[in-house]
Amino acid sequence: MQTDDPSAPPALELSGVTKSFGPVTALRSANLRVETGSIHALVGENGAGKSTLVKIVAGLYRRDGGALALDGAPVDFHSTAESKAAGIAVIYQEPTLFPDLSVTENIFMGRQPTGRFGRIDRRAMRQEAQAIFARLGVRLDPDRPTDGLSIADQQIIEIAKAISLDARVLVMDEPTAALSGIEVDRLFAVARGLRDEGRALVFISHRFDEVFDLCDTVTVMRDGAYVDTLPVAGTTVDELVRMMVGRDVAELFPKLPAEVGDDVLVVEGLTQPGVFHDVSFTVRAGEIVGLAGLVGAGRSEVARAVFGVDPYESGSVRVDGEPLPRGNPRASIARGLALVPEDRRRQGLVLDQTVARNVTLAIRERLARWGLVWDGLENAAARTWASRLEVKTAALDAETGTLSGGNQQKVVLGKWLASDPRVLIVDEPTRGIDVGTKAEVHRLLSRLAQQGVAILMISSELPEVLGMADRVLVMREGRLTGELDRADATPEAVMRAATTEEAVR
Ligand SMILES: Nc1ncnc2c1ncn2[C@@H]1O[C@H](COP(=O)(O)OP(=O)(O)OP(=O)(O)O)[C@@H](O)[C@H]1O
Ligand SMILES: [Mg+2]
Repeated sequence: MQTDDPSAPPALELSGVTKSFGPVTALRSANLRVETGSIHALVGENGAGKSTLVKIVAGLYRRDGGALALDGAPVDFHSTAESKAAGIAVIYQEPTLFPDLSVTENIFMGRQPTGRFGRIDRRAMRQEAQAIFARLGVRLDPDRPTDGLSIADQQIIEIAKAISLDARVLVMDEPTAALSGIEVDRLFAVARGLRDEGRALVFISHRFDEVFDLCDTVTVMRDGAYVDTLPVAGTTVDELVRMMVGRDVAELFPKLPAEVGDDVLVVEGLTQPGVFHDVSFTVRAGEIVGLAGLVGAGRSEVARAVFGVDPYESGSVRVDGEPLPRGNPRASIARGLALVPEDRRRQGLVLDQTVARNVTLAIRERLARWGLVWDGLENAAARTWASRLEVKTAALDAETGTLSGGNQQKVVLGKWLASDPRVLIVDEPTRGIDVGTKAEVHRLLSRLAQQGVAILMISSELPEVLGMADRVLVMREGRLTGELDRADATPEAVMRAATTEEAVR
Protein backbone atom coordinates (compact mmCIF):
# COMPACT_ATOMS: atom_id res chain seq x y z
CA MET A 1 0.00 0.00 0.00
CA GLN A 2 1.42 3.37 -0.94
CA THR A 3 0.21 6.89 -0.31
CA ASP A 4 -2.34 8.30 -2.69
CA ASP A 5 -0.22 11.25 -3.65
CA PRO A 6 2.37 9.99 -6.12
CA SER A 7 4.35 13.20 -5.84
CA ALA A 8 4.80 12.82 -2.08
CA PRO A 9 8.49 12.47 -1.25
CA PRO A 10 9.60 9.08 0.09
CA ALA A 11 9.72 8.71 3.86
CA LEU A 12 13.35 7.64 3.65
CA GLU A 13 15.75 7.98 0.77
CA LEU A 14 19.41 7.12 0.36
CA SER A 15 21.21 7.92 -2.86
CA GLY A 16 24.72 7.05 -3.88
CA VAL A 17 25.77 6.35 -0.30
CA THR A 18 29.34 5.13 0.18
CA LYS A 19 31.17 3.77 3.21
CA SER A 20 34.57 2.19 3.74
CA PHE A 21 36.30 0.66 6.73
CA GLY A 22 39.98 1.10 6.05
CA PRO A 23 40.69 -0.99 2.97
CA VAL A 24 37.22 -2.63 3.03
CA THR A 25 34.53 -0.99 0.93
CA ALA A 26 31.21 -1.88 2.53
CA LEU A 27 29.04 0.42 0.39
CA ARG A 28 30.03 1.49 -3.11
CA SER A 29 26.79 3.17 -4.07
CA ALA A 30 23.68 2.32 -2.11
CA ASN A 31 20.24 3.56 -3.10
CA LEU A 32 17.03 3.00 -1.22
CA ARG A 33 13.68 4.73 -1.59
CA VAL A 34 11.07 3.79 0.99
CA GLU A 35 7.56 5.16 0.51
CA THR A 36 5.28 6.16 3.36
CA GLY A 37 2.75 3.44 4.19
CA SER A 38 4.83 0.62 2.74
CA ILE A 39 6.99 -2.27 3.85
CA HIS A 40 10.19 -2.34 1.86
CA ALA A 41 12.42 -5.43 1.74
CA LEU A 42 16.18 -5.12 1.44
CA VAL A 43 17.90 -8.28 0.25
CA GLY A 44 21.43 -9.28 -0.69
CA GLU A 45 24.12 -11.84 0.05
CA ASN A 46 26.10 -11.96 3.29
CA GLY A 47 28.41 -8.97 3.25
CA ALA A 48 26.42 -7.08 0.59
CA GLY A 49 26.25 -4.05 2.88
CA LYS A 50 22.70 -4.21 4.28
CA SER A 51 23.62 -3.79 7.94
CA THR A 52 26.10 -1.05 7.11
CA LEU A 53 23.30 0.84 5.37
CA VAL A 54 21.07 0.31 8.41
CA LYS A 55 23.76 1.64 10.76
CA ILE A 56 24.15 4.76 8.63
CA VAL A 57 20.40 5.38 8.82
CA ALA A 58 20.60 4.77 12.57
CA GLY A 59 23.33 7.37 13.02
CA LEU A 60 25.76 4.76 14.30
CA TYR A 61 28.10 5.19 11.31
CA ARG A 62 28.80 8.33 9.29
CA ARG A 63 28.57 7.85 5.56
CA ASP A 64 31.61 8.81 3.46
CA GLY A 65 29.53 10.15 0.58
CA GLY A 66 26.07 10.30 -0.94
CA ALA A 67 22.81 11.70 0.39
CA LEU A 68 20.26 10.82 3.02
CA ALA A 69 16.77 12.37 3.15
CA LEU A 70 13.63 12.06 5.29
CA ASP A 71 10.36 13.13 3.67
CA GLY A 72 12.38 14.84 0.98
CA ALA A 73 14.50 16.90 3.38
CA PRO A 74 18.25 16.20 3.53
CA VAL A 75 19.43 14.92 6.89
CA ASP A 76 22.77 14.12 8.43
CA PHE A 77 23.01 12.17 11.66
CA HIS A 78 25.99 12.50 13.97
CA SER A 79 24.61 10.14 16.59
CA THR A 80 21.93 7.52 17.19
CA ALA A 81 20.14 10.08 19.36
CA GLU A 82 19.74 12.39 16.34
CA SER A 83 18.36 9.57 14.21
CA LYS A 84 15.92 8.59 16.96
CA ALA A 85 14.82 12.20 17.41
CA ALA A 86 14.09 12.35 13.67
CA GLY A 87 11.62 9.49 14.07
CA ILE A 88 13.70 6.48 13.09
CA ALA A 89 13.67 3.26 15.10
CA VAL A 90 16.11 0.48 14.34
CA ILE A 91 16.21 -3.18 15.23
CA TYR A 92 19.84 -4.24 14.86
CA GLN A 93 20.83 -7.61 13.49
CA GLU A 94 22.71 -8.51 16.67
CA PRO A 95 20.85 -7.83 19.91
CA THR A 96 22.56 -5.12 21.95
CA LEU A 97 20.99 -5.62 25.36
CA PHE A 98 22.50 -4.86 28.74
CA PRO A 99 22.62 -8.24 30.50
CA ASP A 100 22.41 -6.85 34.03
CA LEU A 101 19.38 -4.68 33.38
CA SER A 102 15.83 -5.97 33.43
CA VAL A 103 13.75 -6.60 30.33
CA THR A 104 11.78 -3.40 30.98
CA GLU A 105 14.90 -1.31 31.64
CA ASN A 106 16.37 -2.49 28.37
CA ILE A 107 13.25 -1.52 26.45
CA PHE A 108 13.29 2.00 27.89
CA MET A 109 17.06 2.40 28.02
CA GLY A 110 18.00 6.07 28.02
CA ARG A 111 14.45 7.47 27.97
CA GLN A 112 12.69 6.34 31.11
CA PRO A 113 9.32 8.03 31.45
CA THR A 114 9.35 10.24 34.53
CA GLY A 115 6.42 10.87 36.83
CA ARG A 116 5.99 13.67 39.32
CA PHE A 117 9.17 15.19 40.79
CA GLY A 118 11.11 13.72 37.88
CA ARG A 119 11.13 10.25 39.38
CA ILE A 120 11.34 7.34 37.00
CA ASP A 121 7.85 5.90 36.62
CA ARG A 122 8.58 2.18 36.85
CA ARG A 123 4.95 1.20 36.85
CA ALA A 124 4.27 3.02 33.59
CA MET A 125 7.31 1.41 31.98
CA ARG A 126 6.30 -2.01 33.14
CA GLN A 127 2.75 -1.57 31.88
CA GLU A 128 3.85 -0.38 28.50
CA ALA A 129 6.29 -3.26 28.16
CA GLN A 130 3.52 -5.68 29.01
CA ALA A 131 1.15 -4.06 26.53
CA ILE A 132 3.69 -4.49 23.75
CA PHE A 133 4.32 -8.12 24.69
CA ALA A 134 0.57 -8.72 24.64
CA ARG A 135 0.43 -7.19 21.16
CA LEU A 136 3.24 -9.51 20.07
CA GLY A 137 1.59 -12.42 21.86
CA VAL A 138 4.67 -13.30 23.89
CA ARG A 139 5.03 -14.15 27.55
CA LEU A 140 8.13 -12.61 29.01
CA ASP A 141 8.73 -11.49 32.58
CA PRO A 142 9.38 -7.73 32.36
CA ASP A 143 11.32 -7.77 35.63
CA ARG A 144 13.84 -10.47 34.92
CA PRO A 145 17.38 -9.57 33.84
CA THR A 146 18.07 -10.17 30.17
CA ASP A 147 21.16 -12.20 30.98
CA GLY A 148 20.61 -15.81 29.98
CA LEU A 149 17.68 -15.14 27.67
CA SER A 150 17.58 -17.09 24.42
CA ILE A 151 18.54 -15.27 21.25
CA ALA A 152 14.86 -15.30 20.21
CA ASP A 153 13.76 -13.60 23.42
CA GLN A 154 16.55 -11.06 23.01
CA GLN A 155 15.24 -10.41 19.53
CA ILE A 156 11.71 -9.94 20.85
CA ILE A 157 13.00 -7.36 23.35
CA GLU A 158 14.74 -5.50 20.52
CA ILE A 159 11.47 -5.52 18.60
CA ALA A 160 9.55 -4.24 21.63
CA LYS A 161 12.15 -1.53 22.11
CA ALA A 162 11.72 -0.34 18.53
CA ILE A 163 7.92 -0.48 18.65
CA SER A 164 7.84 1.49 21.91
CA LEU A 165 9.64 4.34 20.15
CA ASP A 166 6.55 4.90 18.03
CA ALA A 167 8.72 5.96 15.11
CA ARG A 168 7.72 7.04 11.61
CA VAL A 169 10.39 4.90 10.01
CA LEU A 170 11.07 1.44 11.42
CA VAL A 171 14.13 -0.41 10.14
CA MET A 172 14.36 -4.12 10.99
CA ASP A 173 17.63 -5.94 10.29
CA GLU A 174 16.82 -9.67 10.29
CA PRO A 175 14.28 -9.39 13.12
CA THR A 176 12.98 -12.90 12.52
CA ALA A 177 16.27 -14.80 12.24
CA ALA A 178 15.71 -16.64 15.52
CA LEU A 179 11.92 -16.69 15.56
CA SER A 180 9.64 -19.53 14.52
CA GLY A 181 6.35 -19.43 12.61
CA ILE A 182 3.95 -18.16 15.24
CA GLU A 183 6.20 -15.40 16.56
CA VAL A 184 6.90 -14.32 13.00
CA ASP A 185 3.16 -14.16 12.24
CA ARG A 186 2.59 -11.93 15.26
CA LEU A 187 5.43 -9.61 14.38
CA PHE A 188 4.08 -9.36 10.84
CA ALA A 189 0.61 -8.48 12.12
CA VAL A 190 2.15 -5.62 14.12
CA ALA A 191 4.24 -4.53 11.12
CA ARG A 192 1.18 -4.46 8.85
CA GLY A 193 -0.69 -2.43 11.46
CA LEU A 194 2.12 0.14 11.49
CA ARG A 195 2.17 0.28 7.70
CA ASP A 196 -1.57 0.83 7.58
CA GLU A 197 -1.14 3.73 10.00
CA GLY A 198 1.04 5.30 7.33
CA ARG A 199 4.51 4.50 8.59
CA ALA A 200 7.42 3.31 6.52
CA LEU A 201 9.14 0.01 7.28
CA VAL A 202 12.35 -1.56 6.03
CA PHE A 203 12.65 -5.31 6.43
CA ILE A 204 15.84 -7.31 5.95
CA SER A 205 15.68 -11.11 5.80
CA HIS A 206 17.31 -14.09 4.16
CA ARG A 207 13.98 -15.91 4.26
CA PHE A 208 12.29 -15.26 0.95
CA ASP A 209 8.89 -16.61 2.00
CA GLU A 210 8.82 -13.78 4.55
CA VAL A 211 9.74 -11.16 1.98
CA PHE A 212 6.92 -12.30 -0.26
CA ASP A 213 4.46 -12.61 2.60
CA LEU A 214 5.10 -9.23 4.20
CA CYS A 215 6.64 -6.73 1.83
CA ASP A 216 5.30 -4.45 -0.91
CA THR A 217 8.56 -3.51 -2.59
CA VAL A 218 12.01 -5.04 -2.68
CA THR A 219 15.46 -3.57 -3.26
CA VAL A 220 18.34 -5.87 -4.16
CA MET A 221 21.96 -5.07 -3.25
CA ARG A 222 25.13 -6.75 -4.39
CA ASP A 223 28.71 -6.04 -3.27
CA GLY A 224 27.81 -2.75 -1.64
CA ALA A 225 25.92 -1.45 -4.65
CA TYR A 226 22.30 -0.97 -5.64
CA VAL A 227 21.00 -3.48 -8.20
CA ASP A 228 17.28 -2.82 -8.62
CA THR A 229 13.96 -2.06 -6.93
CA LEU A 230 10.82 -4.00 -7.86
CA PRO A 231 7.27 -4.47 -6.63
CA VAL A 232 7.20 -7.78 -4.76
CA ALA A 233 4.09 -8.86 -6.65
CA GLY A 234 5.98 -8.53 -9.92
CA THR A 235 8.98 -10.74 -9.14
CA THR A 236 9.90 -14.28 -8.12
CA VAL A 237 12.34 -15.93 -5.73
CA ASP A 238 14.44 -17.12 -8.65
CA GLU A 239 14.67 -13.65 -10.10
CA LEU A 240 15.68 -12.13 -6.76
CA VAL A 241 18.30 -14.82 -6.20
CA ARG A 242 19.78 -14.24 -9.64
CA MET A 243 20.00 -10.52 -8.98
CA MET A 244 21.59 -11.13 -5.55
CA VAL A 245 24.23 -13.64 -6.51
CA GLY A 246 24.47 -13.14 -10.25
CA ARG A 247 23.80 -16.82 -11.00
CA ASP A 248 21.29 -19.58 -10.34
CA VAL A 249 21.61 -21.31 -6.99
CA ALA A 250 21.71 -25.07 -6.69
CA GLU A 251 18.92 -26.92 -4.95
CA LEU A 252 18.31 -25.51 -1.48
CA PHE A 253 17.79 -28.82 0.32
CA PRO A 254 20.18 -31.26 -1.30
CA LYS A 255 19.23 -34.23 0.83
CA LEU A 256 21.46 -37.18 -0.06
CA PRO A 257 20.55 -40.77 0.72
CA ALA A 258 22.65 -41.96 3.65
CA GLU A 259 22.96 -45.37 5.19
CA VAL A 260 21.58 -45.24 8.69
CA GLY A 261 23.72 -47.24 11.09
CA ASP A 262 23.90 -47.89 14.83
CA ASP A 263 22.69 -45.68 17.63
CA VAL A 264 25.34 -43.08 18.33
CA LEU A 265 23.69 -40.54 20.61
CA VAL A 266 21.17 -41.95 23.07
CA VAL A 267 19.43 -39.55 25.43
CA GLU A 268 17.18 -41.00 28.10
CA GLY A 269 14.79 -39.28 30.50
CA LEU A 270 16.71 -36.04 30.49
CA THR A 271 15.16 -33.70 33.03
CA GLN A 272 16.00 -30.28 34.38
CA PRO A 273 13.06 -29.03 36.47
CA GLY A 274 11.34 -26.03 34.99
CA VAL A 275 13.29 -26.32 31.74
CA PHE A 276 12.77 -29.76 30.17
CA HIS A 277 11.23 -33.01 31.31
CA ASP A 278 11.78 -36.65 30.50
CA VAL A 279 13.33 -36.05 27.09
CA SER A 280 14.39 -39.26 25.35
CA PHE A 281 15.62 -39.69 21.81
CA THR A 282 18.24 -41.39 19.69
CA VAL A 283 20.33 -40.19 16.79
CA ARG A 284 21.92 -42.88 14.66
CA ALA A 285 24.99 -42.81 12.47
CA GLY A 286 24.19 -41.23 9.13
CA GLU A 287 20.96 -39.76 10.37
CA ILE A 288 19.83 -36.15 10.46
CA VAL A 289 17.27 -35.67 13.21
CA GLY A 290 15.43 -32.37 13.18
CA LEU A 291 14.27 -30.77 16.42
CA ALA A 292 11.35 -28.42 15.84
CA GLY A 293 9.19 -26.37 18.16
CA LEU A 294 8.24 -22.86 19.09
CA VAL A 295 10.62 -20.40 20.65
CA GLY A 296 10.99 -21.25 24.32
CA ALA A 297 10.06 -24.92 23.86
CA GLY A 298 13.38 -25.92 25.39
CA ARG A 299 15.21 -27.19 22.31
CA SER A 300 18.44 -25.23 22.81
CA GLU A 301 18.42 -26.04 26.51
CA VAL A 302 18.32 -29.77 25.75
CA ALA A 303 21.12 -29.41 23.23
CA ARG A 304 23.25 -27.48 25.70
CA ALA A 305 22.61 -30.03 28.45
CA VAL A 306 23.54 -32.93 26.17
CA PHE A 307 26.77 -31.20 25.19
CA GLY A 308 27.53 -30.36 28.81
CA VAL A 309 27.45 -26.57 28.92
CA ASP A 310 24.20 -26.60 30.91
CA PRO A 311 23.27 -28.89 33.81
CA TYR A 312 20.56 -31.51 34.02
CA GLU A 313 19.18 -33.10 37.15
CA SER A 314 18.35 -36.61 36.03
CA GLY A 315 18.48 -38.82 33.00
CA SER A 316 21.43 -39.96 30.95
CA VAL A 317 23.36 -39.29 27.77
CA ARG A 318 25.30 -42.04 26.05
CA VAL A 319 27.58 -41.87 23.03
CA ASP A 320 28.43 -45.13 21.29
CA GLY A 321 27.02 -46.98 24.28
CA GLU A 322 29.27 -45.28 26.84
CA PRO A 323 27.84 -42.75 29.32
CA LEU A 324 28.89 -39.18 28.70
CA PRO A 325 29.85 -37.29 31.87
CA ARG A 326 27.47 -34.54 32.88
CA GLY A 327 28.37 -30.87 32.57
CA ASN A 328 31.74 -31.44 30.97
CA PRO A 329 32.02 -29.97 27.48
CA ARG A 330 35.72 -30.85 27.27
CA ALA A 331 34.89 -34.50 27.75
CA SER A 332 32.14 -34.16 25.16
CA ILE A 333 34.54 -32.70 22.61
CA ALA A 334 37.04 -35.47 23.33
CA ARG A 335 34.28 -38.00 22.62
CA GLY A 336 33.53 -36.41 19.25
CA LEU A 337 30.65 -34.09 20.07
CA ALA A 338 30.31 -30.66 18.55
CA LEU A 339 27.72 -27.98 19.28
CA VAL A 340 27.13 -25.02 16.99
CA PRO A 341 25.30 -22.73 19.44
CA GLU A 342 22.43 -20.42 18.56
CA ASP A 343 23.99 -17.32 20.12
CA ARG A 344 27.18 -16.97 18.14
CA ARG A 345 28.28 -13.72 19.71
CA ARG A 346 27.98 -14.89 23.31
CA GLN A 347 28.76 -18.58 23.00
CA GLY A 348 30.36 -19.34 19.69
CA LEU A 349 32.99 -16.76 18.87
CA VAL A 350 35.75 -14.66 20.33
CA LEU A 351 34.88 -11.50 18.46
CA ASP A 352 38.12 -9.62 19.04
CA GLN A 353 40.23 -12.50 17.78
CA THR A 354 41.06 -13.28 14.18
CA VAL A 355 39.00 -15.39 11.84
CA ALA A 356 41.80 -17.97 11.66
CA ARG A 357 41.95 -18.25 15.45
CA ASN A 358 38.19 -18.73 15.74
CA VAL A 359 38.01 -21.39 13.05
CA THR A 360 40.75 -23.38 14.77
CA LEU A 361 39.50 -22.89 18.36
CA ALA A 362 38.13 -26.41 18.69
CA ILE A 363 41.17 -28.13 17.16
CA ARG A 364 44.02 -26.27 18.81
CA GLU A 365 45.24 -29.30 20.73
CA ARG A 366 45.40 -31.26 17.51
CA LEU A 367 47.26 -28.48 15.69
CA ALA A 368 49.75 -27.86 18.48
CA ARG A 369 53.39 -28.88 18.08
CA TRP A 370 55.36 -28.84 21.33
CA GLY A 371 52.50 -26.99 22.94
CA LEU A 372 52.42 -24.23 20.35
CA VAL A 373 50.18 -23.55 17.39
CA TRP A 374 52.17 -22.07 14.54
CA ASP A 375 50.47 -19.32 12.54
CA GLY A 376 51.15 -21.18 9.31
CA LEU A 377 49.31 -24.28 10.50
CA GLU A 378 46.49 -22.22 11.92
CA ASN A 379 46.06 -20.33 8.67
CA ALA A 380 46.17 -23.46 6.55
CA ALA A 381 43.51 -25.18 8.65
CA ALA A 382 41.35 -22.09 8.68
CA ARG A 383 41.74 -21.44 4.97
CA THR A 384 40.18 -24.77 4.03
CA TRP A 385 36.97 -24.05 5.93
CA ALA A 386 36.83 -20.36 5.18
CA SER A 387 36.87 -21.10 1.48
CA ARG A 388 34.46 -24.05 1.63
CA LEU A 389 31.96 -21.87 3.45
CA GLU A 390 32.77 -18.83 1.34
CA VAL A 391 33.53 -16.65 4.35
CA LYS A 392 33.75 -13.11 3.07
CA THR A 393 36.59 -11.43 4.91
CA ALA A 394 39.37 -9.06 3.95
CA ALA A 395 41.90 -11.49 5.46
CA LEU A 396 42.10 -14.52 7.72
CA ASP A 397 43.70 -12.31 10.33
CA ALA A 398 40.83 -9.80 10.31
CA GLU A 399 38.99 -9.39 13.61
CA THR A 400 35.95 -11.66 13.58
CA GLY A 401 33.74 -8.90 15.01
CA THR A 402 34.11 -6.87 11.82
CA LEU A 403 32.54 -9.56 9.64
CA SER A 404 28.92 -9.32 8.56
CA GLY A 405 26.42 -11.33 10.62
CA GLY A 406 26.10 -14.16 8.13
CA ASN A 407 29.84 -14.42 7.73
CA GLN A 408 30.29 -14.68 11.49
CA GLN A 409 27.83 -17.56 11.42
CA LYS A 410 29.95 -19.28 8.77
CA VAL A 411 32.99 -18.94 11.05
CA VAL A 412 31.16 -20.70 13.92
CA LEU A 413 30.14 -23.48 11.57
CA GLY A 414 33.69 -23.79 10.27
CA LYS A 415 35.04 -24.01 13.81
CA TRP A 416 32.97 -27.11 14.57
CA LEU A 417 33.11 -28.75 11.16
CA ALA A 418 36.91 -28.54 11.40
CA SER A 419 36.76 -30.66 14.55
CA ASP A 420 35.60 -33.60 12.44
CA PRO A 421 32.81 -34.57 14.86
CA ARG A 422 31.05 -37.89 15.32
CA VAL A 423 27.94 -36.24 16.74
CA LEU A 424 27.14 -32.81 15.41
CA ILE A 425 24.51 -30.72 17.16
CA VAL A 426 23.62 -27.60 15.22
CA ASP A 427 21.35 -24.94 16.71
CA GLU A 428 19.93 -22.71 13.96
CA PRO A 429 22.88 -23.49 11.70
CA THR A 430 21.85 -21.18 8.87
CA ARG A 431 20.61 -18.25 10.94
CA GLY A 432 21.44 -15.15 8.94
CA ILE A 433 23.13 -17.08 6.15
CA ASP A 434 22.27 -16.11 2.59
CA VAL A 435 20.55 -18.34 0.08
CA GLY A 436 23.63 -19.50 -1.81
CA THR A 437 25.62 -20.45 1.27
CA LYS A 438 22.55 -21.99 2.87
CA ALA A 439 22.45 -24.51 0.06
CA GLU A 440 26.16 -25.13 0.62
CA VAL A 441 25.68 -25.67 4.37
CA HIS A 442 22.86 -28.11 3.67
CA ARG A 443 25.06 -29.96 1.22
CA LEU A 444 27.82 -30.16 3.85
CA LEU A 445 25.39 -31.54 6.44
CA SER A 446 24.09 -34.09 3.95
CA ARG A 447 27.61 -35.18 3.10
CA LEU A 448 28.61 -35.47 6.76
CA ALA A 449 25.59 -37.71 7.34
CA GLN A 450 26.67 -39.85 4.41
CA GLN A 451 30.03 -40.23 6.09
CA GLY A 452 28.26 -41.58 9.17
CA VAL A 453 28.06 -38.51 11.38
CA ALA A 454 24.99 -38.40 13.64
CA ILE A 455 23.39 -34.98 13.30
CA LEU A 456 20.86 -33.26 15.54
CA MET A 457 19.55 -30.13 13.85
CA ILE A 458 17.54 -27.52 15.72
CA SER A 459 15.88 -25.08 13.40
CA SER A 460 13.01 -22.62 13.56
CA GLU A 461 12.81 -22.62 9.80
CA LEU A 462 10.31 -25.33 9.06
CA PRO A 463 11.28 -25.77 5.39
CA GLU A 464 14.84 -26.44 6.53
CA VAL A 465 13.75 -29.10 9.03
CA LEU A 466 11.39 -30.76 6.59
CA GLY A 467 13.88 -30.52 3.75
CA MET A 468 16.87 -31.98 5.59
CA ALA A 469 15.71 -34.28 8.41
CA ASP A 470 15.21 -38.06 8.24
CA ARG A 471 13.14 -37.80 11.38
CA VAL A 472 11.57 -34.83 13.10
CA LEU A 473 11.22 -34.48 16.86
CA VAL A 474 8.92 -31.79 18.15
CA MET A 475 9.15 -30.11 21.54
CA ARG A 476 6.56 -28.10 23.35
CA GLU A 477 6.99 -26.51 26.77
CA GLY A 478 9.98 -28.62 27.68
CA ARG A 479 8.61 -31.98 26.55
CA LEU A 480 8.86 -34.05 23.41
CA THR A 481 5.38 -34.01 21.93
CA GLY A 482 5.94 -35.59 18.57
CA GLU A 483 8.18 -37.81 16.52
CA LEU A 484 7.55 -37.95 12.80
CA ASP A 485 9.23 -39.84 10.02
CA ARG A 486 10.38 -37.88 7.02
CA ALA A 487 7.40 -39.11 5.00
CA ASP A 488 4.86 -38.02 7.63
CA ALA A 489 6.49 -34.73 8.56
CA THR A 490 4.18 -32.17 7.00
CA PRO A 491 4.11 -28.56 8.20
CA GLU A 492 0.65 -29.19 9.67
CA ALA A 493 1.74 -32.28 11.62
CA VAL A 494 4.76 -30.49 13.05
CA MET A 495 2.78 -27.40 13.98
CA ARG A 496 0.12 -29.53 15.66
CA ALA A 497 2.71 -31.24 17.84
CA ALA A 498 4.35 -27.92 18.60
CA THR A 499 1.18 -26.20 19.72
CA THR A 500 -1.48 -28.62 21.00
CA GLU A 501 -1.94 -30.86 24.00
CA GLU A 502 -2.33 -34.21 22.34
CA ALA A 503 0.86 -35.99 21.36
CA VAL A 504 1.09 -37.35 17.84
CA ARG A 505 3.38 -40.21 18.62
N1 LIG B 1 33.14 -2.21 11.52
C1 LIG B 1 33.61 -2.81 10.42
N2 LIG B 1 34.94 -2.91 10.18
C2 LIG B 1 35.40 -3.49 9.06
N3 LIG B 1 34.63 -4.04 8.10
C3 LIG B 1 33.30 -3.97 8.28
C4 LIG B 1 32.72 -3.36 9.43
N4 LIG B 1 31.38 -3.47 9.33
C5 LIG B 1 31.13 -4.10 8.16
N5 LIG B 1 32.29 -4.40 7.52
C6 LIG B 1 32.40 -5.08 6.22
O1 LIG B 1 31.48 -4.48 5.33
C7 LIG B 1 30.90 -5.44 4.47
C8 LIG B 1 29.39 -5.36 4.55
O2 LIG B 1 28.95 -5.84 5.81
P1 LIG B 1 27.43 -5.80 6.27
O3 LIG B 1 27.42 -6.20 7.70
O4 LIG B 1 26.84 -4.48 5.92
O5 LIG B 1 26.77 -6.93 5.35
P2 LIG B 1 25.28 -7.51 5.34
O6 LIG B 1 24.72 -7.27 4.00
O7 LIG B 1 24.53 -6.97 6.50
O8 LIG B 1 25.53 -9.08 5.50
P3 LIG B 1 24.72 -10.22 6.35
O9 LIG B 1 23.63 -10.71 5.46
O10 LIG B 1 25.74 -11.29 6.56
O11 LIG B 1 24.26 -9.62 7.62
C9 LIG B 1 31.47 -6.78 4.90
O12 LIG B 1 32.52 -7.10 4.02
C10 LIG B 1 32.00 -6.53 6.30
O13 LIG B 1 33.08 -7.37 6.59
MG1 LIG C 1 23.74 -7.82 8.17
